[in-house]
This record gives sequence, structure tokens and C-alpha cells, in this order.
Amino acid sequence: MDKTIAVLEGDGIGPEIVREALKVLKAIETKYGHRFTLNHAPFGAAAYFTEGSPFPEGTKAICDEADVIIKGPVGLAVEKMNEIPPEHRPEIGAILPLRRRYDTFANYRPVRLPKGLASFSPLKPELIGEGIDILMIRELVGGIYFGDKLEGPQTGMRYAKDDCTYTDDQVRRVAIVAFEEARKKACPLTNIHKANVLATSRFWNQVVDDVAKSYPEVPYRSLLVDNAAYQLVKYPRGLNGVVLLENMQGDILTDEAGGIIGSLGLMPSACVGPEKSYVEPAHGSAPDIAGKNIANPYSMIGSIALMLERCLGLPDEARDVWEALFHVFSQGYTTVELAEGESETRKVLTTSEFGDAVVGNISRKA
Ligand code: IPM
Ligand code: MN
Repeated sequence: MDKTIAVLEGDGIGPEIVREALKVLKAIETKYGHRFTLNHAPFGAAAYFTEGSPFPEGTKAICDEADVIIKGPVGLAVEKMNEIPPEHRPEIGAILPLRRRYDTFANYRPVRLPKGLASFSPLKPELIGEGIDILMIRELVGGIYFGDKLEGPQTGMRYAKDDCTYTDDQVRRVAIVAFEEARKKACPLTNIHKANVLATSRFWNQVVDDVAKSYPEVPYRSLLVDNAAYQLVKYPRGLNGVVLLENMQGDILTDEAGGIIGSLGLMPSACVGPEKSYVEPAHGSAPDIAGKNIANPYSMIGSIALMLERCLGLPDEARDVWEALFHVFSQGYTTVELAEGESETRKVLTTSEFGDAVVGNISRKA
């Protein structure tokens, strides 16, 4: 396979975790005889300071030409961010425009903690049971994130608003993605909502119920988002299977899920659109530990696995990366943030040692 890939390293720990992810991609390229041409481009807060925009025109052109995009986390320390005018901050000025540009509506966020790694979780091992295996699918280009916004003093009173809108098509297409996934995996689907209060949630449920009719073989239920937040802590494996979420609720519950499996460093993600997709870790740029070679690169390397699987149609290569990743933990290694509060004694790896260990596992296996 011959593909062109845009690489947006981002800010903070971005460059160091992307470096490890690219090592892993190189190992896959060599082992399977693919050719991946990488085009690096500036993106994020640092790009604002060097180029005057967090998503410069040159970067847009590189992304437009690429088959797929690898994106690291973005954002600098608070004081530095405060120097950036709101419309140029990386969230509003780069991430949302990237999602909108490629209409990346389906955000896959797998939440996986096998039984053997139960000690990573802050929860009691009994609650992890046979393991957590949830595929959260978050709608990524609709809802309150993309609605009309108003802020600042209005005539006579101070006032702000964020509109939340969902159209039939927006809900339907992501629901279909989720049901297809549940059918393939032969697992249940849980639909998350806040229909006791929100009109958009009542509408969301109507459309999802309608899509569900075409998938009679998929066990399907709907769960209020506040209850889901509670269940996730009380009985996380009760949510095993596919979990479908709208944008804002998905943002919150995927972070909670990261906490439950022990670290946001274990949360890779793929943002898939009709024509173009990109991958990114679900966490931020952790400026406080940037440049120290201690960040956990799992989420970035896992995002490479998701890219192979979801964006390039290379399931064997993806499986190879997943196995190599999990094998690092089976070999008795861990990372700094996972080791905090850990009951088991594991050897702590640096960012680059972790990447090397994954590469070693990929190369060793024929
Ligand atoms: C995420 C992030 C983003 C979001 C921010 C950085 C805009 O938190 O990808 O989960 O809210 O979607
Ligand atoms: Mn988030």
C-alpha cells in the first residue's frame, strides 16, 4: 500500500509521543512492505506563534492532499494560552475547524482494560472482572460544540448562549456506524441521552430507535447520561459493547472512561469522516511534563492502530500493533502515571523506551 500521511505533531508532549507512534508505523511499513510518505505540518498553539494561525493555510493544503492525518495533542501552558486571542486558541481555531473541514463525524474511542491489567484501574479488581471492553462512539461534528454562540455584554444585561442542534442525517449516520459495529462484534449497544430534559436528546432517541429497527439482532438499550456516568464507576463492565454518545456527553464520558482504566494515556481515538479521517489521542498536551520523555505514548500508538484499522483498511497490521502494545504490559512494564498508586511492581519505561518495546514486539513476531 502506498499512502500519503499528514503529521501534525502539536504542542506539549505531542512531538515526543508522535515520534514513538511514527517509529511503530515505520516498523509496520517495513514488515508488511507498505510505503507511507509523511508530510509534517505545524498545528496548534505553537503554530499560532510561528505562523499567526493554529491551523495555517499551508497545513490545510498538506491535510487536503493526504490520505489520512496523524494529529498529536495541542495546547500550551495556561499563561502562554492567555496570550492567544480566543478565536485563535487551538480548540476553537484548530481542532474544531479540522473536524468540520473533513466532517469527521464518527469518533471511535475504545476503552480497553484486560483482566490482567486490572491493577491499573483505581477501581477494585472485582469490578474489572473479566475485563473492560467498551467501544465508545461519539458524534463529533454536531450538537452544542457547533451551534451558534453568543457571548459578551448585550444591551442591558450580561448574557451568553450555545445552541444545541441535531439534524436527522447527523444522528442517523453515526447511529448506523455504531449499530454496524455492534453487529460485527456481536455485542450489545447502549445509547446515551438526556431525554428527560433535552429536546435534542428526545429527537436523538427517536432517530436511534428508528435505526435500531434495522438491527434486530443487536441487543439495544438507552441509558440516561447521568446514570451512565454512575454505572461506569459502579459496574463498568455492564457497559461492555458499543456505547453511542452525542458530542458533549461523549466528551465527558470518554474522559471518565480514561480515569476508570487508569489513565487518559490509555485512550486512543480515530475521527472518521466520509472521505478523510484523522487520528489523535483523547487527552491533552500535558505541558507540565513536556520534553521530559516520561509521557505515556500508548494513546498515540493506539491511534496508529486505529488508523490502520479504521482509516486504511489494514486489520492485520492493526492487530499486530495492538498485540505489541498490550504485550509491553505483559512483559511487566508500565509508565510513570500508571505506576502512581500501583499495587504491582512493574518497571517504569520512558516514552522512548515504551516505543522501542512496541517496535521490538512487532519486529520479533514473524
Ligand atoms: C477531546 C477534547 C476536545 C473536545 C477539545 C480539546 C476541543 O477534549 O477531543 O475530547 O472537547 O472534543
Ligand atoms: Mn475531551
